[in-house]
Amino acid sequence: MSPGQRIALYPGSFDPVTNGHLDIARRATRIFGEVIVGVLRNSGKAPLFSAEERAALFEESVREAGIHSIRVEAFEGLLVDFAARCGASVVVRGLRAISDFEYELQLAVMNRRLRPELETMFLTPGEDVGFISSRLVREIARFGGDVSGLVPPAAARALARRCGDSGPGSTR
Ligand code: PNS
Repeated sequence: MSPGQRIALYPGSFDPVTNGHLDIARRATRIFGEVIVGVLRNSGKAPLFSAEERAALFEESVREAGIHSIRVEAFEGLLVDFAARCGASVVVRGLRAISDFEYELQLAVMNRRLRPELETMFLTPGEDVGFISSRLVREIARFGGDVSGLVPPAAARALARRCGDSGPGSTR
C-alpha cells in the first residue's frame, strides 16, 4: 500500500490546538491519503477546554487554514484501539526537540508492543512554530499575554473568551 492510500492518525491533547499542531497536520496531509486528528478525552491532566471544544477548535482551524483531507474526532481509551477502529496504519507525532524524544520513543515502543502493525512516524514542525507548546500558550493567555501568531485565530478567540474574565492569578 502506498502512503497516499494509508490513513494516518494524529493524536494529542490539543488543549488548545497551536500553529505547531496545524503545521504537523498539514505536513501529514501531504503524505497520507487521509489524516484523522484524535483528540484525547480521558487525559490525566485537567484540560482548559473540553474534548468537544478542543475538537471543534481543531476543526475550525483546519477549515480556516484551507487544509483538506482531515477529520477530527474525540477519543477515549487506548490509542491503538482507536487507530484500529479508524483503520489507521500510521500514528503521526510531532517532534520539536530532543526534550520530546524520550517520551515519544516510550509511547511509540509501547504502542508497537500493543499493536505491532501500527507504525509511528515523527514529523518535525517548521522552525517558525517549533517552539510553541499548548502549556505555554495557556500560561500566556491566563496572564493576558498576546497569543496571536502562536495559535490559529479560532483558538485565540476561544482563549480570550475563556481566560478573559479570569485574570492574572487564576488557576484555570
Ligand atoms: O498531546 P499529548 O498530551 O502529548 O498526547 C498524548 C497522547 C494522546 C498521544 C497519549 O497520551 C495517548 O495516546 N493517550 C491514549 C491512552 C493510551 O493509549 N495510553 C498508552 C500509550 S502507550
